[in-house]
Amino acid sequence: MGATDLAAMTQAWSKVEAEAARLKRSKLLDLFAADVKRMEALTFSAPHLLADFSKQRIDSAALAAMGALAQAADFDGWRAKMFAGEIVNNTEGRAAKHWALRIQDPPGGDNEITAVLDRMHAFAHEIAESGDYDAVIHLGIGGSDLGPRVVLDALKAYRRPNLTVRFASNVDGADVADAIEGLDPKRTLLIVASKTFTTQETLANAEFVRAWGPARIAAATAAPEKAIAWGVAAADVFAFWDWVGGRYSLWSSVSLVCEIALTHGAFFKMLEGAEEMDNHFRDAPFAENLPAVSAAVQMWNREALGHRSYAIIPYAERLRLLPAWLQQLEMESNGKGVTRDGASLQRSACAVTWGAAGTNAQHSFFQLLHQGVDEIPAEFIVNAGASEGPASHRTKVYANALAQARALVVGKSAEQAKAEMLAKGISEAEATRLAPHRAFTGNRASTLMAIDELSPEALGALLAFYEHRTFTQAVLTGVNPFDQWGVELGKDMANALLPGLEGGATPENLDPSTAAWLRQLRT
Ligand code: F6P
Repeated sequence: MGATDLAAMTQAWSKVEAEAARLKRSKLLDLFAADVKRMEALTFSAPHLLADFSKQRIDSAALAAMGALAQAADFDGWRAKMFAGEIVNNTEGRAAKHWALRIQDPPGGDNEITAVLDRMHAFAHEIAESGDYDAVIHLGIGGSDLGPRVVLDALKAYRRPNLTVRFASNVDGADVADAIEGLDPKRTLLIVASKTFTTQETLANAEFVRAWGPARIAAATAAPEKAIAWGVAAADVFAFWDWVGGRYSLWSSVSLVCEIALTHGAFFKMLEGAEEMDNHFRDAPFAENLPAVSAAVQMWNREALGHRSYAIIPYAERLRLLPAWLQQLEMESNGKGVTRDGASLQRSACAVTWGAAGTNAQHSFFQLLHQGVDEIPAEFIVNAGASEGPASHRTKVYANALAQARALVVGKSAEQAKAEMLAKGISEAEATRLAPHRAFTGNRASTLMAIDELSPEALGALLAFYEHRTFTQAVLTGVNPFDQWGVELGKDMANALLPGLEGGATPENLDPSTAAWLRQLRT
């Protein structure tokens, strides 16, 4: 594996910064006025997905500088290494082959993968058709939880009727108590999903639900021997592999619950859609590659323009859990301080990801987006296909998404705000007083994306798009996006503190604050 050429990357970054200096103070509306083809030039497509970056403070020259950075960072090489199954996760000595789970021809592209997919399919059929089950409880956390949750929420239209699905992840007992509430254990299947089968939260929840007496217990794990030792029948253990990262695992047996709860082969169709995005990402040159260009825009905003966070706003209720899934994907993958070779990073590999579904978000934090001191770029997603519910709502969702992106960029001057108030008969003094409060700076960046419909294929493509964007951001800064050592310290400390809270020994040399809280909570 080649060492990161930091010198070449530093040089490329200086060119990016020169472009940023040129564009930093520019007005987005002036950029539109200067180039009638701006929207065309900055709109990119990939299977099931379209993205318009024209309201971002970027242009073709700036994107070309980001493309040169990608070359200096050996984007082509790292992409090829990932798709060749080479060890790209160098701190854990593993490949990152989540994409292999999506290969369709032959299914799984590999006997081992095909065998598990076939078993998942047969098991799902047995559970769904037996008439013995009313409910499935899925226990996992992080990547063993968020993916299946997003999928089942998004694809409600494909859900099997009369099968309740409950998730619990939190080690706050309220979560698992809610999960079993009102269910009959004798008609419930428990699925324990944990890559390592050592995660404290999942095992605590699993012990509790096992004691409640579910009719059958299955497991999805990369440590089948541990699941069997814990008591799952070998025939009901569905393996995946250490080369599937936790936050990239929704394509694996972690989604057994999706295969059970979705009809019409929706889970397999999701794999198909994701593979379409894989093919696009693997084959398209950087300048035409939607995940790569989107990563360039993310890094441009974060590092060239200095925006520390961005808001992801799906204007689709069925994608309301996307921000939570994306938070783990982006921040657990790229929230790193050193390059893959251990050198301190001069630049962050990701911004803070946050957001919620529109239009709800408009009535919550959009005030900050429109009038807060800092500009926070936004990413909007609309569903261009058929929608559920009352037909008349569809145009309202679009109007709101378009209006928010437009309001962010166009804004409203204090003069304009004042003139509007005067026209409504408000006194001169009152209009002058209120004008600064009712003005919008505008000139704020956003991306507008559309999926062609909320189908399993499009959802698969969308989620794979984000995985590849995350990978590309890692390449552009030289980090390894496939490890997560930053979660270990807190886990170790929690294990060390637990005996003290359970009445046993407290660790020595605790900081005074923790020691005081421990004493307090123990009583
Ligand atoms: O704590 C972080 C993490 O390791 C994630 O990467 C992972 O998705 C989650 O915990 C759950 O891990 P597991 O699937 O091994 O239970």
